[in-house]
Amino acid sequence: MTQDDLSIADPKMRAQGVSVFYGEKQAINDVSIDVGTDLVTAFIGPSGCGKSTFLRSLNRMNDTIAGAKVTGTIELDGEDIYAPSMDVVQLRARVGMVFQKPNPFPKSIYDNVAYGSRIHGLASSKADLDGIVERALTRAGLWDEVKDRLTESGTALSGGQQQRLCIARAIAVDPEVILMDEPCSALDPIATAKIEELIHELRGKYAIVIVTHNMQQAARVSQRTAFFHLGTLVEYGKTTDIFTNPKAERTKDYITGRYG
Ligand SMILES: Nc1ncnc2c1ncn2[C@@H]1O[C@H](COP(=O)(O)OP(=O)(O)O)[C@@H](O)[C@H]1O
Ligand SMILES: [Mg+2]
Repeated sequence: MTQDDLSIADPKMRAQGVSVFYGEKQAINDVSIDVGTDLVTAFIGPSGCGKSTFLRSLNRMNDTIAGAKVTGTIELDGEDIYAPSMDVVQLRARVGMVFQKPNPFPKSIYDNVAYGSRIHGLASSKADLDGIVERALTRAGLWDEVKDRLTESGTALSGGQQQRLCIARAIAVDPEVILMDEPCSALDPIATAKIEELIHELRGKYAIVIVTHNMQQAARVSQRTAFFHLGTLVEYGKTTDIFTNPKAERTKDYITGRYG
């Protein structure tokens, strides 16, 4: 891999020598990467190169896939997230995830956002929970649109609103990292623009990692970009460098659209 001087002094997450297997098949091969606290990091690369697989290893979502195995080390604030002592439910609150297809629960808008706080016992009263829900929806840029319909089903919202609801649900438990796996791929351009705007606003409050196969999107929203190909991390650098002055031939070919 070609690596710029990217030294992130105090990385939020640090992956070292990470490989991921599905049974016999190796999907990620020896990936090392630091994720900065105040940065948006984009993972790009052609379909099937392992972006989602690697992203899922960052909050142990691969644990839920039978036959999946992760080797190497991944730390959150210096703590090994695969250590036996790690509470996975807690980990997934600290490292939240937003999926490709908006997946609100078939519950009210309010209950979608309150869900995690209830599980983790974060609210001491109804008023407290109301405050958590309002703050999360406000932060996700959705409050004004839904404040008068909090009891309606989350699934009744538009696709873009559903995705912002899922972001609010992740934010409500006060995460440190938010992982987004192609969060706009099911959305129209206007809804996509709103999510990108939201990512700008959330930058600095959470470490954000976004998988996207849309290179313009990576260029717009991120400060760091990692280019994956065939399960390896080919190049990781400042987004501006990756797009204007890539070091690896394979990165060059990809960003100039030679393969896709
Ligand atoms: N649940 C799974 N079981 C077996 N193989 C999988 C599974 N998920 C992904 N893969 C394989 O792992 C490789 C990487 O997939 P993925 O991480 O989804 O790539 P990307 O997100 O970059 O499109 C692909 O070859 C894919 O077929
Ligand atoms: Mg994917």
